[in-house]
Amino acid sequence: MPKVTIVGAGNVGATAAHALALKDIADVVLIDVVEGLPQGKALDMMQMRSVEMFTSKITGTNDYADTANSDVVVITAGIARKPGMTREDLLDVNAGIMKSVITQALEASPNAIFICVTNPLDVMVYLAYKMSGLPKNRIMGMGGVLDSSRLSAAVCEKLSCDPTDVEAWAVGAHGEGMVCWPRFTTVKDTPITDLLEPEEVDEVVAACIGGGAKVVSLLKTGSAYYAPGASIAKMVEAILTDSGEVMSVCALLTGEYGEDGLFMNVPVRLGAKGMEEIVEFDLNDEEKAALHASAESVRAGLAGL
Ligand code: NAI
Ligand code: 2OP
Repeated sequence: MPKVTIVGAGNVGATAAHALALKDIADVVLIDVVEGLPQGKALDMMQMRSVEMFTSKITGTNDYADTANSDVVVITAGIARKPGMTREDLLDVNAGIMKSVITQALEASPNAIFICVTNPLDVMVYLAYKMSGLPKNRIMGMGGVLDSSRLSAAVCEKLSCDPTDVEAWAVGAHGEGMVCWPRFTTVKDTPITDLLEPEEVDEVVAACIGGGAKVVSLLKTGSAYYAPGASIAKMVEAILTDSGEVMSVCALLTGEYGEDGLFMNVPVRLGAKGMEEIVEFDLNDEEKAALHASAESVRAGLAGL
């Protein structure tokens, strides 16, 4: 079995572990600074094995030695936003956590592929990339899969269709500068721009961009974790199975889409090597301008580092 470490056994980390365990494709190690938390959640999931009938083992620990030689490391450690907070408000605390986590996790698993999740995502992945010296194919962030799933959810609600019929694309910053691509978002291969009035397209885009904040305002104690956990598991599965699937992933741009030296969500082919290729869609001038504006919002975030 491949080995996947998830750093941070909070809501997102534990939900990702759960989603991965159900896929039965990897043993999972949950690690956290809080004693007992990863061990308790891992034991709970181990006691679920005979109900769900999966063979993956889930282990909880506070010691990086137990994470040694992982194939994939997912970093969810950090604080989450509360009502009134943006993802950017988390920068100072989470940057300190990211620095200590990436160093220890890389020492234990020098050949792993790293997926950062901690917010503010685009800035945290950049920080982890700089701290680790990892090649660009082995470090990326989860944000775009989640954002695209929120766009899909909004389309399904608006058109009363099933998620299996929808392909949705949300890219750019995982923050207020997020960009949706309605022309490439389809229901049974028909673009939603042909199925909805312009103002209805604006409504589904707004529902996508505001989807995370809406969950925060309802929960009041933290942010989303079911859709984020499932999105992490989807990326890990694509890597471990070398699927070659293209999805929206926070990757280092080195000239693609006219941008250089920053991480943001773009269509990425995922496989055994990690981020195998950035796929460039044929954008019109308006879409190019929107993506560039999104890149500028990421650059503004990086200035806060
Ligand atoms: P949470 O508070 O439930 O869990 C965070 C966990 O990290 C806690 O258990 C905490 O003890 C642990 N932790 C803190 N410092 C640590 C360290 N140095 N080493 C190991 N563990 C440490 O928060 P939640 O809801 O799980 O969110 C985690 C992060 O993920 C937040 O920054 C949140 O904003 C972000 N997030 C990102 C998403 C994305 O799409 N990129 C989606 C959802 C959340
Ligand atoms: C979300 O989009 C807060 O990044 C987290 O739900």
